[in-house]
Amino acid sequence: MALAEFLAELDDLAQSAAAAFQLAADPHALEAARIEFLGAKSGRLKAVQKGLGKVPGPDKPAAGKRFNEVKQAIEAAFQAATERCAASKGPAKEALRFDPTVPGVRPAIGHLHPITQTIEHLKDIMGRLGFTVADGPEVEDAWHNFEALNIPPEHPARDPLENFYLATAGRAAGSAAGDGLLLRSQTSTVQIRVMEKTRPPVRIISLGRVYRPDKPDKTHSPMFHQIEGLLVDRRVTMADLKSVLRLLGMSYFHGDVHIRFRPSFFPFTEPSVEIDMQWQGRWIEMGGAGMVDPNVLRAVGYDPEEVTGFAFGLGIERICMRQHGIDDIREFYENNVRFLHQF
Ligand code: DAH
Repeated sequence: MALAEFLAELDDLAQSAAAAFQLAADPHALEAARIEFLGAKSGRLKAVQKGLGKVPGPDKPAAGKRFNEVKQAIEAAFQAATERCAASKGPAKEALRFDPTVPGVRPAIGHLHPITQTIEHLKDIMGRLGFTVADGPEVEDAWHNFEALNIPPEHPARDPLENFYLATAGRAAGSAAGDGLLLRSQTSTVQIRVMEKTRPPVRIISLGRVYRPDKPDKTHSPMFHQIEGLLVDRRVTMADLKSVLRLLGMSYFHGDVHIRFRPSFFPFTEPSVEIDMQWQGRWIEMGGAGMVDPNVLRAVGYDPEEVTGFAFGLGIERICMRQHGIDDIREFYENNVRFLHQF
């Protein structure tokens, strides 16, 4: 091959490569151009390099020198194009953006908080038992948090020291316990909200945050989660309550869970009980329950002669802690990644 011919080929290649790199609009196109010109096995530069061997001996130094210049120029053009693609806000970045509409497998990074996992699990189990999920606001009024639940104004549960009242215009926080707004202290509020809007039969659960001014320690947190259950229909009995709780416990803990009722008092249930669950030989307190007090049924316009109901409220953290053997409730809220990674 004559020197002139070789040099012409080199010039041609330098021009096409520069044009291709310049035209590449995104990283994919640029990569395709890189393989075409600089590819180690069958790139065009490699092909031209083979011609170098056929240039007559005396012309070889000149041919080699030019070859190296062109090679460097092409590599520099590629480098410049790479930087341009990375810096541009145009199609280059667009191509890298996450597109949630693309079908495929969910990335295996991140996972749900253990409390969220417990909430989803409980919804799932109760859903299979026919309970639908109801929601209520976390900022409540005294009617739904107390009054309609048979907790009259003079009741100690309404004390400002026991609740997070909100400071409303013209009134300091807690100065008028009894009528202000507050952060709900129990999810029982949702029982009222649902019954006010629906005629019996009712079969709901509600899960969410509740707030009480407790000093944080291993078992207390000023914010925690409850699951509330309510079933109102004709001839509902305490046996139905115990059966549902037992099924819930057995499904959740995958074992033979026993339920024990201890006599208790709640203003909104009569009779009232504390619920203990036994799993793997240990009893633990789960929350409260009872038959809906006739006064509560009347407050929402139901006829206690016609329908009866049961209600329960369980601590979600307790359930989750028992499941995983967690002994400090504060772990849930400290965002310690080493703790959270375990679930
Ligand atoms: N609301 C009660 C609490 O926070 C728990 C509770 C007890 C809920 C009895 C109920 C119930 O629905 O029937 O301590």
